[in-house]
Amino acid sequence: MKKNSFPHLIDLDSYPVSAWNSITALGLDIKRNPHIYVGACNGKIMGTLFYEPSTRTQMSFQSAMLRLGGGIVGFDNPLNSSVAKGESIKDTTKIASSYSDIIVMRHPLEGSVKAAALTADCPVINAGDGGHLHPTQTLTDLITLRAEKDTLSGLTVGFCGDLKNGRTVHSLLKALCCYENNRFVLISTDELKAPTYIKDRISAAGKEYVEVNSLEEAIPELDVLYMTRIQRERFADPSEYEKQKHIFRLDKKKMQAAKGDMIVLHPLPRVDEIAVEVDNDPRALYFKQANYGMYVRMSLILSVLNDDIKTAPLLNGEVMPKVCCRNLKCITCSEEALPHSFRNHGGVLECEYCDERLLLE
Ligand code: NCD
Repeated sequence: MKKNSFPHLIDLDSYPVSAWNSITALGLDIKRNPHIYVGACNGKIMGTLFYEPSTRTQMSFQSAMLRLGGGIVGFDNPLNSSVAKGESIKDTTKIASSYSDIIVMRHPLEGSVKAAALTADCPVINAGDGGHLHPTQTLTDLITLRAEKDTLSGLTVGFCGDLKNGRTVHSLLKALCCYENNRFVLISTDELKAPTYIKDRISAAGKEYVEVNSLEEAIPELDVLYMTRIQRERFADPSEYEKQKHIFRLDKKKMQAAKGDMIVLHPLPRVDEIAVEVDNDPRALYFKQANYGMYVRMSLILSVLNDDIKTAPLLNGEVMPKVCCRNLKCITCSEEALPHSFRNHGGVLECEYCDERLLLE
């Protein structure tokens, strides 16, 4: 693989839709015929750089690589690495990518994984960058929908909870806009609505969405209900989290009003937004969804290491060294020497790391 053409997965947009479809199809084949793929990554090493807590994403990536016969190096607590001594993302990635064939990275700052990919000497996979994006959770969601609903089109999908900070919501909404006749019901409080840039994407794709604040009222029309937790760690003000935390809760009673074939997904972890009594409902698929995640990650690792995917360049916009992104959670505000690169939409600049918009003066 040539450095400038590594198939980094930063946003699902990095790959064409045909690649999402082949990755999910291969994931289903691996699930059906796992014996065929044993040893497919013999001798390969995956570096896992987890600067933020993770159970499913980290363990499913690790078990995916181990099931393919590869090995793993990395950290799940940055305090046990040189990050604790003040090492930059650039330097950590440069070194980790010289030990690994593929890197999987999670970090609390938005755009951080793209920043890492800029200097890595191997493909880098975004396992979650702050409240921004989470493309491999979206692959997990897509494989689950394919297997359980048999389609990715013509669905009314409800997203409920923290639509502002929920990176899985942002990535999945963008992805489902690429399939026909989907419509979205965005269920949240006014404070936790989906970001404008995501809603603009939905409209630009010609898809319909409504924003509502009642799960009870929304549930009867849904084919899929995607529940999410309120993301405590993303709130600057803890009292604001306290106000938001118990507002939405899916329970048996609400499930009675749902269609017989509606499915409930959740990226997990759950806090209290789904009552445990719902777990035994056959429509509750969140644990199964987490299992599909391992197979789709096996497929992703294989596809990336086989260099089967064509990707877009990491930065396409204009580098404007004097312009700074105003999103304090953007990686460009803390990591030195990153090219400040923006897409220009008729005077509105969009940061190429975190998608924050600013007006050109
Ligand atoms: C999510 C995440 O980390 O973004 N979980 C996951 O990766 N499966 C959801 C969350 O943290 O709420």
